[in-house]
Amino acid sequence: MMVTASGKPVRGEYWPCCNWTPHNDNILNSKVFNVKDSTIADFWQSKEMDKIRSMMLEGKPIAGCKACYDEERNGTASLRQQENNGWNRHKDLPNIQDTITQWQETGVCPEPVSMDINFSSLCNLKCRMCFSGLSSELAKEQKQIIDKEGWDINDELLRFQTDDLEIIDHGNNNSLMMELYDMFKSMKRIYLKGGEPTLLQSMYNYLEYPVDQGNAKDIQIKFNTNMTNVQKRFIQLMDKFKKVDLTMSIDGIGAVQEYIRAPSKWRSIKKNIFNYIENNKKSDMMVSPCWQIYNVHYIYEHLSYFNYLNTIRQIEVTPIILDFPMHYRIDVLPYEVRQTAIDNIDKCFKLNIVKQPTLFRKLHTLKKILQDTKEHPQTIKHMEQFSTVTKLYDKYRDQSIENSLPELYKHVKKYF
Ligand SMILES: C[S@@+](CC[C@H](N)C(=O)[O-])C[C@H]1O[C@@H](n2cnc3c(N)ncnc32)[C@H](O)[C@@H]1O
Ligand code: SF4
Repeated sequence: MMVTASGKPVRGEYWPCCNWTPHNDNILNSKVFNVKDSTIADFWQSKEMDKIRSMMLEGKPIAGCKACYDEERNGTASLRQQENNGWNRHKDLPNIQDTITQWQETGVCPEPVSMDINFSSLCNLKCRMCFSGLSSELAKEQKQIIDKEGWDINDELLRFQTDDLEIIDHGNNNSLMMELYDMFKSMKRIYLKGGEPTLLQSMYNYLEYPVDQGNAKDIQIKFNTNMTNVQKRFIQLMDKFKKVDLTMSIDGIGAVQEYIRAPSKWRSIKKNIFNYIENNKKSDMMVSPCWQIYNVHYIYEHLSYFNYLNTIRQIEVTPIILDFPMHYRIDVLPYEVRQTAIDNIDKCFKLNIVKQPTLFRKLHTLKKILQDTKEHPQTIKHMEQFSTVTKLYDKYRDQSIENSLPELYKHVKKYF
């Protein structure tokens, strides 16, 4: 299950899963469970969650699970498949059939053992493809752009929401925190995202609780971090848990990274990766690039770097293929631009790192998307939007696509 500061007016909702698509959902949307009016237990034991469980057991499709179904249609292992396949391999996790039986016999679902938490939208970066509800810096910048450009506050290109200017920190919600602390007695896996979780005192307070209580050694944690803020206390805290998966969100090397994920500095990220590698030997490390129009011509350079790092420490590459916003999606690229991106991907197959099964499959999926001879029906509209948004952020960030991403610009400049 997931607790998230979602950017909705009520600021903080419970969802069944981090891959949940609320705009497709037709079960929970009739009753939104938010942190103000409901407890986690209200949500977990609700008739809406029971309906989702029953439909899943009957094999009926759930509208809110669309993101996973789409991935499965594209030939990629979806989160739901990965979780279902991986669950039984973890001997410390409850047996699924026992959990189902207990729920069916008593009508009460045993407490969650796995949870994703977005404590806050506080973030120091404003990645171009991110959302105002997830990044306080992006929210601030989008408001400034809207005011200066005289745009409509609801303009669909930026998808800005006024509520997102207010940074929520669930660490200040005492009743929610009490419930979260209490749940440590059953909790086995925690996945922390954000915002940028490493910036938050409430994240440290939350994770220090099981350390003090002595049950951190039974808990696995997973982090998504932008790797701009790798403090000594973070590295030390990570050593206290049973297992840590550290997922680094890095979308490119050098200028590509700095362009997509402003105002990050590549030198500092590189230093932080090495700092973590040298001082924390226990974590499993992953890098999760978000593949989108901006970096599709630079995947080889990115993978070459992590190919080299893999000679020092094992780092698994777990790419995300961007689905939304539409104007950054790889499948809206005009057909004539795609061959050079395919050439770049083909070079990748020579790298040792591509023997990693997840990466191998994702690269094939990406190549299949690019090779599709049918152009997206709204290519021109989305490329124009891509150009508008790119120029806008370039202007307010004093950046230039032509200087930072020359290989891409060469192919798309007719839209600029
Ligand atoms: C929102 S971030 C929060 C955690 C942390 N700040 C980070 O960047 O890792 C979580 C993940 O979402 C990814 N992300 C951002 N915008 C996205 C989009 N439009 N589509 C898919 N993933 C996206 C990021 O690259 C990151 O890996
Ligand atoms: S660092 Fe993470 S939360 Fe912050 S803007 Fe980038 S993707 Fe969004």
